[in-house]
Amino acid sequence: MKIINSIIAMQALAIAPERGERRIVFVPTMGYLHEGHASLLREGRKRGEVLVLSIFVNPIQFGVHEDLDRYPRDLENDCRIAAECGVDIVFIPTAAEMYPPAFQTGVTVRDLALPLCGARRPGHFDGVATVVTKLFNIVRPDVALFGCKDYQQLAVIRRMTSDLNLPIEIVGMPIVREADGLAMSSRNAYLSPHERQSALCLIRAIRKARELFTTGERSVAVLLHEARAVIEKEPAAVIDYVEIRDGELLNELEVADSGTLLAVAVKIGQTRLIDNTVFGEEL
Ligand code: PAF
Repeated sequence: MKIINSIIAMQALAIAPERGERRIVFVPTMGYLHEGHASLLREGRKRGEVLVLSIFVNPIQFGVHEDLDRYPRDLENDCRIAAECGVDIVFIPTAAEMYPPAFQTGVTVRDLALPLCGARRPGHFDGVATVVTKLFNIVRPDVALFGCKDYQQLAVIRRMTSDLNLPIEIVGMPIVREADGLAMSSRNAYLSPHERQSALCLIRAIRKARELFTTGERSVAVLLHEARAVIEKEPAAVIDYVEIRDGELLNELEVADSGTLLAVAVKIGQTRLIDNTVFGEEL
């Protein structure tokens, strides 16, 4: 497994004639890898000849009061997991090289980036779309894999890839959960043991709404009311949003159907967690 820090070196490998017909499969991450990332890497391993993992805590997708400075990092463990998953190249650029002082270009996906996390984290999806475009241009992948836990992020990246005619297949992979249902996230590392228990209100709310949907409830108002009530029972939880939206365009709906998205964002202490489900699909 090769570790590459320089953009030029990564790009040189990607466009080298020796690449030939070999397909590059790419898993972009911010590091602090967990089983969710490992599932992307294992699937990625099957989809091409060269598997590239990037680790870059992208400063421009964090708001001023967000957790950029304390975002968890553990490169040694990340490299261990990467090697176990058969990664060929770990690309770890520096912020100084990704964003030199003269940098001034951004990629914006308009409507899809507005609701949900976009409304609570202004500029977040511009930061994501910009860095993913840069990484795509550096790594030149044929296929890129992203987790569905960041549902809106995946929708934004799919839109961007299609709108900009990038010849890259985008693969969304199912949410990986702990045994008790908590969605895996690098930010789970912030939770105290007590908060870790409180965090289960997200999956409880999702399960409640799914149960109601399965027994025939289709009213968005009712489904939202019941999901919110589950979270409100948890004293340590503060709802950021609980919303039901069309699964493709993320438009508001009054009636839920198969393919409809339920997305939740909840603060547990200082930690903001997100989770989601699509009605009619497996949890
Ligand atoms: O999902 C993430 O880890 C990040 O948002 C991504 C896609 C690597 C861009 O920084």
